[in-house]
Amino acid sequence: MSNLKSTLELNNGVKMPKFGLGVWKSNNTEAKNAVSTAIQNGYLLIDTAKQYGNETGVGQGIREGLQKTGMNRKDIFITTKVFNGDQGYDSTLYAFENQLKRLNLNYLDLLLVHWPVDGKFIDTYKAMETLYKNGRVRALGISNFNTERLNQLLDRTTITPTINQMEFNPYNQENEILSNNKLQGIQMEAWSPLGGGEALADPVINQIAVRYKKSVAQIILRWEYQRDLVIIPKSIHEQRIIENSQIFDFSLTDQDMELINNLDKGQDHRVLHYDDFKWHNPNGSWGDEVDHCEDSPANYAD
Ligand SMILES: NC(=O)c1ccc[n+]([C@@H]2O[C@H](COP(=O)([O-])OP(=O)(O)OC[C@H]3O[C@@H](n4cnc5c(N)ncnc54)[C@H](OP(=O)(O)O)[C@@H]3O)[C@@H](O)[C@H]2O)c1
Repeated sequence: MSNLKSTLELNNGVKMPKFGLGVWKSNNTEAKNAVSTAIQNGYLLIDTAKQYGNETGVGQGIREGLQKTGMNRKDIFITTKVFNGDQGYDSTLYAFENQLKRLNLNYLDLLLVHWPVDGKFIDTYKAMETLYKNGRVRALGISNFNTERLNQLLDRTTITPTINQMEFNPYNQENEILSNNKLQGIQMEAWSPLGGGEALADPVINQIAVRYKKSVAQIILRWEYQRDLVIIPKSIHEQRIIENSQIFDFSLTDQDMELINNLDKGQDHRVLHYDDFKWHNPNGSWGDEVDHCEDSPANYAD
């Protein structure tokens, strides 16, 4: 029977947990507490990014969680991402060492290109290939890459990414990218699996939740799990961290899967219209996250 410890095998043979915790919009203290709580409640996968400004808190939460459970570093799977302002070959290598220091780790399980910054993402990925060949990272991946960007990457690099982390939730199902990634042997991981909270109010999903006597969040996450996605819902509340992980004692019928499949609005156009999205601009900023990053992107010349 599947559970929080269930893994899938990535295209390089590394085993990755299929369910984990996201920490976007959590400050260092919130991230520390959420990560420690999640590990103590059986989570093995944690997803952060330099962009979130909380790698230090995540590192503290990992250490506390491991201490309290008696588990070892190798029992858990940690992901972080190359910040847009760090993209380029040398700057990615430099930033990686600082990211590991903040996380208090000596290797990483999965490193993602956070966004495909044009003119830079190929060199970024080449630096990641160096880190992989040197044993600093167990798997490489990408995030927010549409098929065109992915094909550009595959043409000019040698190691096929293991993961493409994309927004995926009932209202935004990247079905075309999902099928294309499957053909290439790339596993999709869903970010904002609860639609950042938005999908929780959906009336169709609420009716399904009543029938299954489950919470709306559990129905959405179970639907994504049955769609074969890796999922990383974020919460800073213990009760929700536990609730979100309790999706392994029931399954949705094909008919109910289809009801949620039909909710797709293709709502998110960010990946298709890069130029409208500030994160795509290496000199751009978005909200507070960039401001409280612990390295200054201005330190990097290229
Ligand atoms: N690669 C990328 O570009 C990218 C972009 C965005 C996100 N991500 C990753 O994906 C992770 C998840 O995405 P996300 O954080 O955007 O959104 P999400 O997981 O879809 O939703 C998180 C929101 O839902 C609330 N929530 C969580 N569980 C709940 C429950 N059981 N009942 C009611 N509300 C609940 C949370 O509030 P509380 O915390 O207050 O409980 C938070 O407001 C991120 O944290 C990050 O690690 C990656």
